[in-house]
Amino acid sequence: MPDKHVTDKYDVIVIGGGPAGYVAAIRCAQLGMTTACIDKWINKDGKPALGGTCLNVGCIPSKALLEDSEQFEHISKHSIEHGITVKNVKMNIAAMIERKDKIVTELTAGIAQLFKANKIAWLPGKGTLLTDKKVSVESLDGDESTLYQADNIIIATGSSPVELACAPLTDERIVDNEGALNWQSVPKRLGIIGAGVIGLELGSVWRRLGAEVVILEAMDDFLAAADAQVSRHAKRELDNQGLDIRLGSRITNTKLNVNDLLVEYTDKKGEQQLTVDRLIVSVGRKPNTYGVVSDNLGLKFDKHNYIDVNDNCETNIQGVYAIGDVVRGPMLAHKASEEGVAVAERINGQKPHIDYNNCPWVIYTHPEIAWVGKTEKQLKKAGINYRSGVFSFVANGRAKAMNQASGFVKILADEQSNRVLGVHIVGPAASELIGQAVIAMESENTSEDIARTIFAHPSLSESIHEAALAVNARAIHSVNRK
Ligand code: FAD
Ligand code: NAI
Repeated sequence: MPDKHVTDKYDVIVIGGGPAGYVAAIRCAQLGMTTACIDKWINKDGKPALGGTCLNVGCIPSKALLEDSEQFEHISKHSIEHGITVKNVKMNIAAMIERKDKIVTELTAGIAQLFKANKIAWLPGKGTLLTDKKVSVESLDGDESTLYQADNIIIATGSSPVELACAPLTDERIVDNEGALNWQSVPKRLGIIGAGVIGLELGSVWRRLGAEVVILEAMDDFLAAADAQVSRHAKRELDNQGLDIRLGSRITNTKLNVNDLLVEYTDKKGEQQLTVDRLIVSVGRKPNTYGVVSDNLGLKFDKHNYIDVNDNCETNIQGVYAIGDVVRGPMLAHKASEEGVAVAERINGQKPHIDYNNCPWVIYTHPEIAWVGKTEKQLKKAGINYRSGVFSFVANGRAKAMNQASGFVKILADEQSNRVLGVHIVGPAASELIGQAVIAMESENTSEDIARTIFAHPSLSESIHEAALAVNARAIHSVNRK
């Protein structure tokens, strides 16, 4: 019997409807569990929406703008290389933003449809987990609270941008990712704090549309998480495109003037100043844990304030799970969704397993950057002997035909067993090519398995084939180093 104060009782309540939460809810419902999903998101049209950061202000809108801006740059600057003359190419920024908003609306409405089809109760509001797996849901207008209960709870409350005290956000001039995805005009001079994934992607968008972009990055290394050879290549390409990336730059202050804004920072030469028209703060994200659980619940958090979970996303409270950005691991939508599926199946009594080593990373700059598995630095540090096979897109016919022959594929394989340990790509369609590497690693393939596979000609994928051949110094279309 449900508690008399409880409105509804479910098998599972999911708090948060981003790619972690909505996927978990759908998988739970597929497995026959009665499921509710609580989400407090309100979109800029004032309506509640599912999809979380990813669909509303993250992965999807940023890729829409990356696509538009890349097409604009391609048509205006590179058509000539294909023998096409175009004149007076103009970008309608309002139309670009409208197209992005339409994609967001369609995709988030699609999730709502999937919820309906799977009979998932969508409860718009702010959820707080109380004791006995009761969840209080405060309505979006804050006027009322309703109590629900479930046998299992999945917390999937995601993350928010880290704020900088010396660069507080303003309406339009100092913004985070959300603001920078909604500008209605191109800033003449754009400053960005943080040369991480958001800084590089959104910096690319606004540079392609005409902004002079300076990125201030505190670290001395560029993209330290990527393989060093890939980072070096990417940095050179981005420098050549005109992204002014200043490493080792620590911001100390910002001053809003009437017509511009001043950013003060220090680098190894001392105190510096930069005058810009707008500024994006993209210095990382923090887990959304504030107000998600009642204080007396006793839920454990780790030292960085993520919800503490084991490999199965179980918290210290039986029947309470946490997934996605609110727990350890990379803040990536596909990692979040995989955890959602795995937790649903675990609640259902199955024994799913996620191999986090096989989680791909992609940065959607031009050229794209993608990798899976270990970097050379990580293998060296772990004392693992490996062989490396590198193949450059410059010798790939399809890449040449596309006029996108910059970059390479690098495969790292265990010296003894030949098993693929890491694949690193910088170049055209790296985001798509990396899927082949993930399948190879998930299948525990050797580089020989890839080398013995037939790839279509001409295709970008042939570079993966050639890199696998190069591991044993037998690439056909490049000179092998023994
Ligand atoms: P979120 O998507 O943040 O969803 C959490 C949801 O929980 C939100 O809807 C929020 O409203 C809700 N919520 C929070 N607290 C409560 C509460 N108390 N009650 C009810 N609801 C609550 N990742 C990629 O893999 N690829 C990309 O290309 C990519 N691009 C990105 C671009 C940008 C600009 C940004 C900011 C992020 C990007 N990411 C990308 C990261 C990706 O968006 C996140 O990793 C992903 O959204 C995490 O999913 P999640 O479900 O854990 O959290
Ligand atoms: P990030 O962690 O990728 O990069 C933040 C950068 O800011 C780091 O290089 C850091 O050294 C720097 N930094 C921190 N404090 C600074 C300071 N005070 N001054 C100057 N630099 C400073 O974080 P970002 O770009 O905000 O993105 C957050 C997360 O969102 C990413 O880690 C990623 O997980 C996810 N994301 C994923 C995308 C993808 O998969 N393509 C795209 C965009 C975001």
